[in-house]
Amino acid sequence: MTFTAQIGNVTFPDIIYNSSGPRCTTPEELVALGNSESSAIMMKSCSPEPRTGNPEPRYKEVELGSINSIGLANHGYKKYIEYATDLKKQFPDKPIVASIVGFCHEDFLQLVEDFQNEPNVDVLEVNLSCPNVVGKPQIAYDFETSDELLEKIFTISGNKPIGLKLPPYFDPVHTASMAEVLKKYPISFITCINSVGNTLIIDPETEQPLIAPKWWLGWLGGDYVKPVALANVRAFYKLLGDRMRIIGCGGIKNGVDVFEHLLAGASMVQLGTVLWKEDVECFGRIQKEFYEYVENKGYTSVDEVIGNLKEL
Ligand SMILES: Cc1cc2nc3c(=O)[nH]c(=O)nc-3n(C[C@H](O)[C@H](O)[C@H](O)COP(=O)(O)O)c2cc1C
Repeated sequence: MTFTAQIGNVTFPDIIYNSSGPRCTTPEELVALGNSESSAIMMKSCSPEPRTGNPEPRYKEVELGSINSIGLANHGYKKYIEYATDLKKQFPDKPIVASIVGFCHEDFLQLVEDFQNEPNVDVLEVNLSCPNVVGKPQIAYDFETSDELLEKIFTISGNKPIGLKLPPYFDPVHTASMAEVLKKYPISFITCINSVGNTLIIDPETEQPLIAPKWWLGWLGGDYVKPVALANVRAFYKLLGDRMRIIGCGGIKNGVDVFEHLLAGASMVQLGTVLWKEDVECFGRIQKEFYEYVENKGYTSVDEVIGNLKEL
């Protein structure tokens, strides 16, 4: 059993692929994704100019997940256009997804426009879970700014599906407020969730925090965040599932985790921390575990699973 998935006019050969961030920054890493069982090649969030990011140590794995403060290190979007051109030649059947980040509205607009015109990129994921102006929260926590930015983005012409990477919301009022904004635009999908921000992990042996940048606060992924991710997938599925696809991301490390994300309402899923920990072998393993699990449960199609959480 395997299932293809569709986002707009783009067909994905399966429902599991990588999230933006881990192992998708360099051309070598992107080629490894192309050669893997990942159903797409998602590229690292890229900005108008290259960024070296934050000082080391900036990524640490622990038993329950990972903490990072990479600082959006990337080669600049023009390089990702070049990488996409080479990747498309080598992997013509795999969708290539560009993840876009900016530090002002003009940045986002320039990148959306240029990627819309780039024939080798199939799908755009706009990362709204990133810093805005100093003193303001990340864009997706600022509903007015999100609305203004989306209004501008959707005036740019182009026929590529555009989706958003969202941070976790922790209060139903905030989730509902964001859903009201998103309803206004022809968004193809939302990816829930980006890492849980502003967290601190302490090593009791060394009595030190694990990472150096930004007062040692970092972004959390892995087991720690799965319940938060599932709650966000479920809430947005209920609020927006009839209008756009929900892509689940957060805490997936085996086939059962994929199943749970689908039950909550995701129709595809992305892998982050597990990819960094295990490398690209995780795709084949998790795909196999997932399909065995659903087959053993008697399902004949993933559509029977998506959103069908048996509510109490
Ligand atoms: C090292 C690292 C770098 C990341 N960089 C990005 C990024 O550039 N853009 C983005 O949208 N998400 C980024 N993320 C967040 C992941 O894509 C993902 O949303 C998050 O880690 C939750 O998934 P997980 O539990 O599978 O790790 C990063 C995560 C990690 C661990």
